[in-house]
Amino acid sequence: MSSEGSFSRVGVVGLGTMGAGIAEVLARGGLAVVGVEVNREALERGRGHLERSTGRAVKRGRLTADAQREILDRVALTTDFADLGDCDLVIEAVPERLDLKRKVFAELDKVCREDAVLATNTSSLSVTDIAVTTGRPSKIVGVHFFNPAPVMKLVEVIATVLTEPDAVARVAALVRGLGKTPVTIGDRAGFVANRLLFGYLNQAAGMLESGHATRDDIDTAMTAGAGLPMGPFTLMDLIGLDTCLEVLEAIYAESRDRRHAASPVLRELVTAGLLGRKTGRGFYSYEKAGSDASGSGAAAAEEPPVVGIVGVGPLADALAALCDRAGASVRDSAADLAGCDLVIEAAEDTEAARALLSAAAQAAKPDAVLAVTSVGGSVIEQAMATGRPADVVGVHLPDPAGTLAEIAATVATGPGVADRAAGLLGRLGLTAVRCRDRAGFIVDALRFPYLNDAAAMLGAGYADADSIDAAMTLGCGYPTGPIADLDRLGLDRAVTVLRALHAETREPALAPVPLLVEHVTAGSPLR
Ligand code: 3HC
Repeated sequence: MSSEGSFSRVGVVGLGTMGAGIAEVLARGGLAVVGVEVNREALERGRGHLERSTGRAVKRGRLTADAQREILDRVALTTDFADLGDCDLVIEAVPERLDLKRKVFAELDKVCREDAVLATNTSSLSVTDIAVTTGRPSKIVGVHFFNPAPVMKLVEVIATVLTEPDAVARVAALVRGLGKTPVTIGDRAGFVANRLLFGYLNQAAGMLESGHATRDDIDTAMTAGAGLPMGPFTLMDLIGLDTCLEVLEAIYAESRDRRHAASPVLRELVTAGLLGRKTGRGFYSYEKAGSDASGSGAAAAEEPPVVGIVGVGPLADALAALCDRAGASVRDSAADLAGCDLVIEAAEDTEAARALLSAAAQAAKPDAVLAVTSVGGSVIEQAMATGRPADVVGVHLPDPAGTLAEIAATVATGPGVADRAAGLLGRLGLTAVRCRDRAGFIVDALRFPYLNDAAAMLGAGYADADSIDAAMTLGCGYPTGPIADLDRLGLDRAVTVLRALHAETREPALAPVPLLVEHVTAGSPLR
C-alpha cells in the first residue's frame, strides 16, 4: 500500500482547542474521525468548538451548510476509548502532563489494533518519554499542529530514535493529503518552530518586565516594523500563557540557555489564572469584544513639519523621500537648520555623525528636536557630544521604506521631548513607538537574536534551511523565514547588530554564530 491515504479512520483524544481543531482538519480532509473526551461535559465542549469553528466558515461563505453537516457527521464523539479499536491512527491532544499522556497511551496500547500508529500533539514533552512506556515504541510519532489548527499550514512530524521510518512516512503523507506541509524533525525540545519562537516571545516579555518598552509599543513594533501577523503579547495570549510557560520550561531544561528561563511576568500571570484569550485576560483583557490593544498609531493629519536632514547616504535619501511623500519641506544645509522643527542626523559612520550633530545643535532653534540615528554606539554618547542632550532622542527606522519609527529617549532626554518627536514623526506618516536607549531598539533587538538562533540551528545540522523557513512561515505566519530574512537584511548587518547586543549584555547566546561570521568573511549568502 502506498503511504498516501494509508489512514482512513483516525482517533483524536482530547477535544480542547487543539484537539477539536485537529479533528476538524481531519474531517474536512474526508477522514472518519473518532473524538474521545473524558466525560459528557468535556465532550459537549468539544462539540461546541467544532460547531463554532465550522459555523464561522459557513458565515464567511467559505463552507456551505451542507458541507458543514457532512464534516460534523464524519466526527463520532464518544467517552469510550474502546471506540478507537478500529482506528489506524490515533492523535492524542490532552493537557501537557507527562503522567496524563502516559495514562492515555497505556489505554490506547490496550484498545488499539497492533498495527495502529499512535501520535502525540505534544508541544513541550519528549515524544521518546511517552514512547518508551508503551508496548509499541516503533509506532509512536509526534504530530505537532499550530494554533489555530484549521488555519496554520505547518505540521511538525517528530520521529524518535525508536520510530520506524514507515510510520513517519505515512503520517507525513497524511499531513500532505490534508493540504498541510509536514516538516520532519528529531525529538528535541521545541522542535523547530517553538525553539525559535519562544526565545523571542520570552525576550519580549523580558523587555516589558524591564520597562524597556510598553506592551502596545512592542506589539506595534513587531507588526508594523517586522511584518509579523501578530505582536508577541497578542500571540502569547492566543497560544495560552500556561502553554507558553510549559514550552519555555521544556526548552530551558534542554538548552540551559537563560533566555529560555520564563520571564517572571509570565509566571505571575499564570499563577493568577490570567491565561490569555481562553480565560478572558492575559497580557490583554478580552472582556469586551476583541483585545484592548490600543497601539501607538500614527498622529492625526496635521501640517507636515520642517525637517533638517544632515548627512549623506542611503538613510538620508530614504528620509528625504519620506518627507517628500508627506509634503514636508526639507533643509539639508547647516545655514538653513534654524527654521527646522526636527533635525535628523543620518550619517554613515559614528565620527561623521558626531561632527554633524555638534554643528546642527548650534544651528537649530532652541525648541527643535534633534534625532540621532545612532550608527554604532549608543544614543546617549551622541547626545552628550551635542552639548544639548535634553533635546536629543534616538530614531531608528527598522525598514527605511516602511512606516515604523522607533524613538529611544535617554536618561538625559528632557520631559516631553520624546512625545514631541513622536508627534513630528507622526506628521511624516510614521507610526512611532518608544523605548529606552538600548542596542537594537525594539525590532532589531528582538529579531536578530531569533535570526542568530536560526543560523545556529542550520550550523548545527538541527534542521535544514527549507525546514527552518517553512516552520516560521507556515507555522507562525511570518511573511518570510529566518534564513531568507538573514540574506535579505544582510549578514553583515546581522553580525553588527548582534555584536552590539552582545557587547551591551555579554549574553553568550547573542554573539553572532560562527556560520554567520564565516559567510560575512566569505561574502556569500546563506543560501
Ligand atoms: N479557528 C479557525 N479559523 C480561524 C481562526 C480560528 N481560531 N482564527 C482565524 N481563522 C481563519 C478565519 O476564518 C480566516 O479565514 P477566512 O478568511 O478564510 O474566513 C483566516 O483565518 C484569517 O482570519 P482573520 O482575518 O480573522 O484574522 P487574521 O488575518 O488576523 O489572521 C491568524 C489570524 C491566522 C491567526 C494570523 O494572525 C496569524 O497567522 N497569527 C500567528 C499565529 C501563530 O503564530 N500561530 C502559532 C503559535 S505557536 C503554536 O501554536 C505551537 C504551540 O505548540 C504553542
